[in-house]
Amino acid sequence: MTKSLTQLCCVSPEQKVIALSSISNPVRLGVAGLGRAFALSASAIYAHPGIILVAAAEPNSEHRKSLEKNFGAKTYTDVTDLVNDPDVEAVYISTPHGLHKEHALAAINAGKAVLIEKPMTVSLEDASLLIEAAKKAAVKIIVGPSHSFDGPVKLAETLIAEGKIGRVRMIHALYATDFLYRPRTAAELSTDLGGGVVFSQAVHQIDLVRRLAGVPAQRVTARTGGAWDTNRPTEGAYSMLIDFSEGIYANLTYSGYAHFDGDRLMENTSELGIPKPDEFKNARKILESIEDELEFKSSRGFTSLETCPQAKTHEHFGQVFVFGDRGDIRLTPNGVEITYCDGPIFYPAPFRTARAEVFDTLYTALREQASPLQDGEWGRASLEICHALLKSSETGDAVILNYQKG
Ligand SMILES: NC(=O)c1ccc[n+]([C@@H]2O[C@H](COP(=O)([O-])OP(=O)(O)OC[C@H]3O[C@@H](n4cnc5c(N)ncnc54)[C@H](O)[C@@H]3O)[C@@H](O)[C@H]2O)c1
Repeated sequence: MTKSLTQLCCVSPEQKVIALSSISNPVRLGVAGLGRAFALSASAIYAHPGIILVAAAEPNSEHRKSLEKNFGAKTYTDVTDLVNDPDVEAVYISTPHGLHKEHALAAINAGKAVLIEKPMTVSLEDASLLIEAAKKAAVKIIVGPSHSFDGPVKLAETLIAEGKIGRVRMIHALYATDFLYRPRTAAELSTDLGGGVVFSQAVHQIDLVRRLAGVPAQRVTARTGGAWDTNRPTEGAYSMLIDFSEGIYANLTYSGYAHFDGDRLMENTSELGIPKPDEFKNARKILESIEDELEFKSSRGFTSLETCPQAKTHEHFGQVFVFGDRGDIRLTPNGVEITYCDGPIFYPAPFRTARAEVFDTLYTALREQASPLQDGEWGRASLEICHALLKSSETGDAVILNYQKG
């Protein structure tokens, strides 16, 4: 008998692989945008027995050819043709943030479910518009991939719910990367257009901290590091304090200025779950040696399945601790460590591929009518915290939140 994905959560990883292979009705997925984000998800889509990639829309002919060759899928230059393709039942929107509203709306109005890259939109008004449109069309929105889907985050949520650390009191999240010195478009360096670390990186940290807190956020106090490098004139760093209900509070800090490498605190494993070599490579210096930044960026899009990152462990978003009455949780790329008065216990998180959990969520939402945690309202709540971060830093005051749910 074929098991449902929900039932599969209770079986061993070996049994799961066998049972997953018996899925007979995979979700027929279309993709809008074959750039970096798609390249990071391509292996998970390819490997997932519940998903089949049937078509894509992308203006870049090289990326289109690569997709046809690797997935045997149809390609279009225009998203309108993709969403109107009767073979496509759900669309992964992996175009730049500024196009998410237009592309997601086209898919929703064509009656297709959407998996929208984070942030779901740049403005809160646009996020609300998508939520309303999806309700009217009776289709599902999932916002991701984001690091709140990572296996260790999900496992920590379960262990907390089982009472393993008692009452949650405080959460700490810290990450430092080279984000600002990866190749960027002009929009990605303009805060007004959704550029900088707030809309692209804080949203990951906010998502996973919200999942671990498990109760609604109420208030944000923050400071941003804006334009410390005048050649990259947008936010490159931030610190914020989020007050949640039940007295839980969280501090979140991030720097994308390419000095300290936060992966050193994560067993020398990259954000994408790949072991890192010991030698130090400075992203600022690498970027300075590149003549055409946009061409360099485009080369990081989809070229082949072989060249896509191949994770060896779960992805992560830096150091995360949850402090409770009975014990303290630390996330690792392999699972969850809980330290009690008499020492630590390690709980491994079963690993298939990076991002498998995202596509499990898409599959169960469409085939088992499961309600995804990271739905449109969830995505809007995280986006609201991004805006609150900017506002609090600008005014110096705490910002009260209005769109949060548990
Ligand atoms: N979840 C993650 O880990 C992750 C990682 C990177 C990017 N992202 C998100 O993915 C989105 C895209 O970022 P990116 O870094 O991949 O950008 P990118 O520029 O590398 O890729 C965007 C792709 O969309 C294509 N495109 C542009 N206009 C289009 C149109 N009208 N129709 C179809 N395709 C079009 C571009 O040609 C490009 O190939 C952003 O919202 C970003 O936040 C998420």
